[in-house]
Amino acid sequence: MVRVASDADLAEGGTLAVTVSGKEYALFRQGGNIYCLDNDCPHAGGPLAEGQVDSMAVSCPWHCWWFDIRTGDGLYGLGIGVACHACMIVDGEILIDV
Ligand code: FES
Repeated sequence: MVRVASDADLAEGGTLAVTVSGKEYALFRQGGNIYCLDNDCPHAGGPLAEGQVDSMAVSCPWHCWWFDIRTGDGLYGLGIGVACHACMIVDGEILIDV
């Protein structure tokens, strides 16, 4: 697990892009929980951290493919998913499994 941000950096309903070893990840906080997906949409690389979040789904800002933020599963269409990573908060720090 790698520390990527402070707990205070990600408000409820918010998103945050973080970088580990040159690769970007998208963090989401919904319902008090934190979720982490690759920040590269599998269609053409759109930044999911800049997408619109609706409940437990995020739409890619480039061409509106939707993904479940809890699993990375693709929704409403081709069903192509994005990698999902375990994450946790320890001592006020957000850690992700990369
Ligand atoms: S790059 Fe994400 S839907 Fe096209």
